[in-house]
Amino acid sequence: MQVISPHAILLALTAIYMQFATAETVLGVYIYHRHGDRTPKILGSTALTALGYDEIFARGSYYHGRYINSSSSSQIHGISPSLVRLSQLNVSAPTDNVIQNSAAGWLQGLYPPAGQTANQTLSNGTSVQPPLNGFQLIPVSTLSSGSDSESSSWLQGVTGCQNAAISSNNYFSSPPYQSLLSSTKSLYQSLSPMINATFSLSDMSFKNAYTIWDLLNVASIHNSTQEYPALQGLNTSLMNQLFELANIHEYNLAYNSSDPVRGIAGAVLAGQVLQGLNNTITSRGSGNTLTVQFGSYATALSYFGLSDLTAASSNFTGIPDYASSMVWELVTNSSISDGFPSPSDIYVRFYFNNGTSAASADLTNYPLFNQSSLLLSWSDFVSSSQKFAVTSQDQWCQQCGNAGSSCAAISSSSSAATPSTSSDSSSGGISKAVAGVIGAMVTLGVVLGLEALVMLIGGIRLTIKRANVPSTPVTEKTVAGERP
Ligand SMILES: *[C@@H]1O[C@H](CO)[C@@H](O)[C@H](O)[C@H]1NC(C)=O
Ligand SMILES: *[C@@H]1O[C@H](CO)[C@@H](O)[C@H](O)[C@H]1NC(C)=O
Ligand SMILES: *[C@@H]1O[C@H](CO)[C@@H](O)[C@H](O)[C@H]1NC(C)=O
Ligand SMILES: *[C@@H]1O[C@H](CO)[C@@H](O)[C@H](O)[C@H]1NC(C)=O
Ligand SMILES: *[C@@H]1O[C@H](CO)[C@@H](O)[C@H](O)[C@H]1NC(C)=O
Ligand SMILES: *[C@@H]1O[C@H](CO)[C@@H](O)[C@H](O)[C@H]1NC(C)=O
Ligand SMILES: *[C@@H]1O[C@H](CO)[C@@H](O)[C@H](O)[C@H]1NC(C)=O
Ligand SMILES: *[C@@H]1O[C@H](CO)[C@@H](O)[C@H](O)[C@H]1NC(C)=O
Ligand SMILES: *[C@@H]1O[C@H](CO)[C@@H](O)[C@H](O)[C@H]1NC(C)=O
Ligand SMILES: *[C@@H]1O[C@H](CO)[C@@H](O)[C@H](O)[C@H]1NC(C)=O
Ligand SMILES: *[C@@H]1O[C@H](CO)[C@@H](O)[C@H](O)[C@H]1NC(C)=O
Ligand SMILES: *[C@@H]1O[C@H](CO)[C@@H](O)[C@H](O)[C@H]1NC(C)=O
Repeated sequence: MQVISPHAILLALTAIYMQFATAETVLGVYIYHRHGDRTPKILGSTALTALGYDEIFARGSYYHGRYINSSSSSQIHGISPSLVRLSQLNVSAPTDNVIQNSAAGWLQGLYPPAGQTANQTLSNGTSVQPPLNGFQLIPVSTLSSGSDSESSSWLQGVTGCQNAAISSNNYFSSPPYQSLLSSTKSLYQSLSPMINATFSLSDMSFKNAYTIWDLLNVASIHNSTQEYPALQGLNTSLMNQLFELANIHEYNLAYNSSDPVRGIAGAVLAGQVLQGLNNTITSRGSGNTLTVQFGSYATALSYFGLSDLTAASSNFTGIPDYASSMVWELVTNSSISDGFPSPSDIYVRFYFNNGTSAASADLTNYPLFNQSSLLLSWSDFVSSSQKFAVTSQDQWCQQCGNAGSSCAAISSSSSAATPSTSSDSSSGGISKAVAGVIGAMVTLGVVLGLEALVMLIGGIRLTIKRANVPSTPVTEKTVAGERP
């Protein structure tokens, strides 16, 4: 009889234990990604820089390592490890040069050139390798919501939601805004030597807190003080101060707890996340399992507010950095060899990575909805998200109060609607330009008196000043004028 050594028993037991102590299986993922380093918004024709391309490619490579590489413990279940299978991916970005190019650069990292693995053999036996060492082509579909976001200085200029525009404008007449506007006046005016090529003296104020900080932030990265001596006055403490102010400005435009419609962009995103993850569950993992949406920071700020992430960390009231990303993972501990788990065995984890200002490339797990657990059951995630998520055109029309033709059609026929990611978000069928004008009119009615006049005049001047910027959407000019 053969003697079994204690060592062999130990090994066998370890193997059995390992089998039960398996890590979570990732079933599906939704990622919302910010673009990389770019040129400033205020100068128009905003473009991704070489640095930005580099940053975004590095993040794509990181996600390859986490979700695609077959040796990763977080590899998405069933996802193709080296050659992309397009049915498993859904990548989208608004029509915007910076964001579209960020998506393309990121995808180069997600599925890098596959070398000879990408070869295909023809009927006559000839093997053909795709160009650029087996480069993999992955389409990026366009989302109409958020179009031209990086060329627009203002969130609601791209959401096309009337009530959200009114709500954001209300911030400009609120006491906290007015008080900062006056207390920071001299600070902004003192920036004149650095920004007078771009801003008129009257525009050097808290009302342009973001675009001023953005111009200087881009300059601090790209412009040498040899070429721009005035920038010698730009030190870290000044930049921090301007950034704090920009954060206050942008967060308040993107979210207000007593007026949820202001966060419409985040509400639409929440609906898209529900839809994306639900697709993975209803298709039992056979449909797309990795959905990636590229966009701008303002939508992320709206979502941070709506989902109570600000309760998890006050840092969520700050503008997320270039190449930052939010990640919703569908995970399970049940054995998938028995088939796709039932929804009751599926959980959601939320992660955030702050891109270029993150201490590490890794993702940080945060609790959503002011809960204590980092793990949410799918049904809890759904019910908490549904408290604010916009999941249909109908709901969007109702909340935004838009009267455009497609909103009108829906209220009369109440037909099944697709989520409001379509061009309807620029007021149902009305062109963006017209929608912008309507938005401005509504604003004039709401923000009364002299202030409105000042805004209008300011807007006209801004328009003239930037008239040489090609293809700037009319919406942007009108909206810029709305801002006091
Ligand atoms: C996948 O991950 C392994 C282990 O980290 C690494 O050695 C390998 O190079 C990675 N493969 C690719 C294609 O990145
Ligand atoms: C096989 O077909 C391809 C494409 O039609 C052609 O370019 C190639 O020359 C053919 N090879 C041979 C050996 O005939
Ligand atoms: C891949 O295709 C290239 C030509 O396009 C050929 O030179 C190479 O031998 C092929 N490799 C394999 C493994 O088929
Ligand atoms: C919400 O907005 C209103 C006016 O728009 C303002 O008075 C209020 O302070 C804001 N609330 C918060 C929490 O910022
Ligand atoms: C901007 O300020 C600098 C320094 O104060 C000055 O030399 C320059 O003429 C100003 N430029 C404009 C366009 O006002
Ligand atoms: C930075 O350089 C660009 C040209 O590359 C220029 O248009 C811009 O005004 C400069 N920014 C500042 C703040 O000097
Ligand atoms: C930073 O710059 C501001 C304005 O130019 C100046 O008032 C302040 O003293 C500087 N701070 C430091 C630490 O150099
Ligand atoms: C792809 O994702 C976008 C954004 O989440 C969504 O609007 C669209 O419906 C999705 N497409 C498919 C085919 O699932
Ligand atoms: C998921 O999709 C199914 C089938 O389309 C639908 O019945 C269900 O309401 C969806 N659930 C959520 C949370 O969207
Ligand atoms: C905010 O971020 C900073 C730096 O990343 C970190 O040191 C700090 O602990 C964070 N604060 C909270 C409340 O999470
Ligand atoms: C991300 O980084 C920025 C600084 O660049 C900071 O203001 C913000 O609070 C950070 N966000 C989080 C959630 O850490
Ligand atoms: C899976 O099990 C580990 C270890 O017990 C636990 O930490 C984790 O939260 C579980 N995950 C899920 C999705 O249940």
